[in-house]
Amino acid sequence: MPTNNDVERVKDKYPGYTLQELNEGEILYRQNCATCHSLKHPALFTESQWEKIVPAEVIKVNKQNGNTIIDKDYQRVLLRYLVTMATSPSAK
Ligand code: HEC
Repeated sequence: MPTNNDVERVKDKYPGYTLQELNEGEILYRQNCATCHSLKHPALFTESQWEKIVPAEVIKVNKQNGNTIIDKDYQRVLLRYLVTMATSPSAK
């Protein structure tokens, strides 16, 4: 589970970042990214890898749903979640 320690760790990278936004990212991830394959642990990929993977996978989600279920704002929330938790000691 994301914690305030995670928000603290990335506060220079993401000024104004909140635990609420981090939690929103987790919900987006759980709700949209486990329909074709199981959830991949955030730590399996680096920040630069997630930056390439997320846009490609978001296109798949939106195609599958036939609409823009993940828009540009949600895509950023999701990417920040994955990048933050990729280096989190609390990520399970
Ligand atoms: C419509 C089906 C579908 C959806 C929805 C989907 N994926 Fe995927 N994803 C795939 C397929 C197919 C692959 C390639 C085979 C594999 O690695 O399982 C893949 C691969 C991946 C990989 C491995 C990439 C690599 O380079 O090894 C990651 C990470 C990933 N997806 C993340 C996500 C995330 C994050 C989301 C939600 C935004 C998502 N996926 C939603 C179909 C999907």
